[in-house]
Amino acid sequence: MSFKKLENDLKEFNIPLNHLGIIMDGNGRWATKRNLPRSAGHRQGALKIKDVIGYALKYKISEITLYTFSTENWKRSKSEVSFIFSLVSDLFEGYIDELIDKKIKVNIVGAQNNVPTKVWNSLKKAEFLSKNGDQLKVNIAFNYGGQEDILYSIKSIANKIINGEIIPENIDLKLIQDNLISKDVEPIDLLIRTSGEQRISNFMPWQISYSEIYFMKVLWPDFSEDDFIEALEEYKRRNRRFGGI
Ligand code: IPE
Ligand code: IPE
Ligand code: MG
Repeated sequence: MSFKKLENDLKEFNIPLNHLGIIMDGNGRWATKRNLPRSAGHRQGALKIKDVIGYALKYKISEITLYTFSTENWKRSKSEVSFIFSLVSDLFEGYIDELIDKKIKVNIVGAQNNVPTKVWNSLKKAEFLSKNGDQLKVNIAFNYGGQEDILYSIKSIANKIINGEIIPENIDLKLIQDNLISKDVEPIDLLIRTSGEQRISNFMPWQISYSEIYFMKVLWPDFSEDDFIEALEEYKRRNRRFGGI
């Protein structure tokens, strides 16, 4: 399947794929298979982030959300956690000029909490400097947890009620969404998870309520343009009914 053909097909069938989410899993296993330390898998995986942003631009997808670190990933060794942090912050520090040049807007979605200030600031700097991008929105789920996201919204709403800004009768779906950490993240049309695991692992519960989900065996560091096309092709075959007929 060539790019041109896929692009035409998407147009012809009027398939709206605005927002792609990816649970980028399998870095550790990729490294272990090669007798390398897990860090080698993370390094290779981080390089793929740039590749996949390039594919999203090429296929004219308008929004992509990448799961880079979950609130549960703190269970890993201190050294693995800080290695992942430095990889992600170095990636975006070195990427700023290109982001601006390609009009990519970065949106950091997560809680600062225990993240070192230096790491957090470098991500926030990329977000700030790329804020005028209008070609592709890249949401980086970093120190993100879906249950914490909902908890955050509930607490914000409760505070607004206490302050007299709203009454409980005003709570509706939009208000819940507007108070999420992920308030600027649109509904996800297609969610890909690599590495063969078939679970969500606390990723964007609000935005995946009607996502198509595609689980792929490929380990994240091996994810290729062909894999990307395969996922879009699969999405094209899906019949999204949203509860209708
Ligand atoms: C995904 O790869 C990257 C992060 C969770 C940060 P893993 O590190 O989970 O790789 P596996 O699942 O151990 O192979
Ligand atoms: C999900 O992968 C988190 C990221 C990809 C950042 P994990 O490897 O942490 O998920 P589990 O532990 O297998 O559910
Ligand atoms: Mg994993």
